Amino acid sequence: MDNTEFLTRQKYLLQTMQPNSICLVPAAHLVTRSRDTEYAFRQDSYFQFLCGFPEPEAWLVLSNHQEYSNGMCILFCLDKDPNMEIWHGRRFGPKQAKQQYPVNMAFALDELEDRLVDLINGHQHLYFAQGHNHDADDLVFSTLQSLREAPKQSKNAPSSLIDVRIILDEMRLIKSTCEIDLMRQAASIATQAHIRAMQFVEESKNEYHLEAEIHHEFAMQGAKYPAYGTIVGAGDNACILHYTENNQELKDGDLVLIDAGCEWQGYASDITRTFPISGTFSAPQKQLYQLVLDAQLAAFEVIKPNNTINQASDVAIKVITQGLIDLGILKGELVDNIEQQTYRQFYMHGLSHWLGLDVHDVGNYKIDGQDRPLQPGMVLTVEPGIYVAPDADVDKKWRGIGIRIEDNLLITQSGYENLTLAAPKTISDIETLMIKKSS
Ligand code: GLY
Ligand code: MN
Ligand code: MN
Repeated sequence: MDNTEFLTRQKYLLQTMQPNSICLVPAAHLVTRSRDTEYAFRQDSYFQFLCGFPEPEAWLVLSNHQEYSNGMCILFCLDKDPNMEIWHGRRFGPKQAKQQYPVNMAFALDELEDRLVDLINGHQHLYFAQGHNHDADDLVFSTLQSLREAPKQSKNAPSSLIDVRIILDEMRLIKSTCEIDLMRQAASIATQAHIRAMQFVEESKNEYHLEAEIHHEFAMQGAKYPAYGTIVGAGDNACILHYTENNQELKDGDLVLIDAGCEWQGYASDITRTFPISGTFSAPQKQLYQLVLDAQLAAFEVIKPNNTINQASDVAIKVITQGLIDLGILKGELVDNIEQQTYRQFYMHGLSHWLGLDVHDVGNYKIDGQDRPLQPGMVLTVEPGIYVAPDADVDKKWRGIGIRIEDNLLITQSGYENLTLAAPKTISDIETLMIKKSS
């Protein structure tokens, strides 16, 4: 992503904040894994969104004070340090950071605490995401306290503290052309990973083998990390929604559910496919699978501008509930089952969530208490499922079957574009792909 995109975002933020405001956005910290070893670093999504600077511990300070005619964006980052860089990797340092990243000034992080008092001084409003990063909270609140305690008339603390997420979340919800291109690529890589898993699956291999195939495809295409913990649930493990142990043997006759997406330049994909380990669905698996697919396709029909996620969700619930009645899994009338939410035993999660820098991306689902209408540029998942627990009070042929089908949709002017369409999901497409593999 080039700097113009970041500059456009900064400008919009500066113009949207109240006049005479300052905004503070901390980068993510490195998190200790054990002793002197850290978890892989991932940049904070808000910080990433505003400047793309890739290092930990940095801060961004933006001001629209009248003394700056076009606003001001200052970066604080770790200083150059030859010894630390030998051990822990290269750093930009303030001078190089200012040359390469979209900021007006850059200083060493060591200067932050002292400079922050004067930077905040005189602004009327402070925009900051309280509670998002506890160390950042401590620094910001202690700086505000220093300002308040300064000798009278020498300093002025802002009179209001405003949650910057109110602005940034709305910005992040509607994707730009450049973001859509990145999300297309994240979707494409994950699609190919799911195809690879379908081609690789074999009885007596393990769930972790499939996980490895998925991650192999991600890595080979330059997507270094999954966007969330990959789920590979074979047999009744598919009924555990956030199953991540991924360590059980694959058994002939079972289905396997894979929920996996990669992160591409910060942006997530989030795909689920469910397929038979043998390459062929059994009759009961086919019936439940087709029902989930019918629910998803029916939900797609109402995914368009001005409709809402809840409308799509109601459609999916109706198809699933009627289907479960038709199969004898639920008893009674459709209206009563929907009113009593009996389907919740088998379909217990929501249909959709926003997708973007975060897999469960930011953005309100309601506005003034009303369901939010869909708008072009939003990206969301559509992911109905049916999960029959191994001890469910139903005919035993259904027990232990877990199915989810999840795609990533971009809202367009006229409807939607399915970014993950190329991942096979009809029964015949899946079986055909898997037969090809064995021949
Ligand atoms: N992979 C998490 C989800 O589908 O929401
Ligand atoms: Mn999802
Ligand atoms: Mn998912």
